[in-house]
Amino acid sequence: MIEIRNTNESYGIIAQSLHWLVAALVLVQLGLGLYAASLPVSLARLQWLSHHKSLGLAILALVLLRLAWRSLNPPPSLPGSMPRWQRSAATALHWMLYLLLLLVPLAGWMHASAAGLSVNWFGLFQVPDLISKQPELSDLLKTLHKGCVALLAMLLLGHVGAALRHALVLRDGIAHRMLPWKPRRM
Ligand code: HEM
Repeated sequence: MIEIRNTNESYGIIAQSLHWLVAALVLVQLGLGLYAASLPVSLARLQWLSHHKSLGLAILALVLLRLAWRSLNPPPSLPGSMPRWQRSAATALHWMLYLLLLLVPLAGWMHASAAGLSVNWFGLFQVPDLISKQPELSDLLKTLHKGCVALLAMLLLGHVGAALRHALVLRDGIAHRMLPWKPRRM
């Protein structure tokens, strides 16, 4: 049966949908950012960066929605059969991922504001700047944005690796809690 809310055994369909939507958009966003930043100064670069900034703000909004939903729906607890250090490591990793999913777009938004490159959200409306135009601060914020992206990418690799280990090696049903179907043998 599909549950809307999280239960103690599994994530509900809202938490699962937000998880996979944010995961897919972050992957697209990493490619979009790397591609746009690789282009020479041109109209094309500005246009790709504009898509990147709009998508980044959409991801920020979805992450805030995820955190709000999570605060109303505590996640299923990790089984006591898992070593204590692994449960602590998993919890710490999840909070670091949330922190970076907030820091990365916020640093990008501040960098764009400081550089005087305000965001027009997918051509629909103008987004207010987060800080005033300060070219001397903009480079620092760009470095912060890129540094947080690199850390996020590393943690994502660790997160995916741990999920695959649970799904394919340990086969303990932990990874399937984020999937709408259950494993045949648990
Ligand atoms: C989860 C959200 C985001 C991710 C994963 C992300 C990722 C990236 C990546 C991978 C790059 C290329 C870095 C490099 O050249 O090494 C980049 C560059 C950039 N990002 Fe983001 N970004 C996000 C959100 C945002 C937001 C919300 C904004 C602004 C509103 C933004 C503004 C920029 C800008 C202006 C650059 C170009 C920096 C340059 O001039 O080289 N990003 N981003």
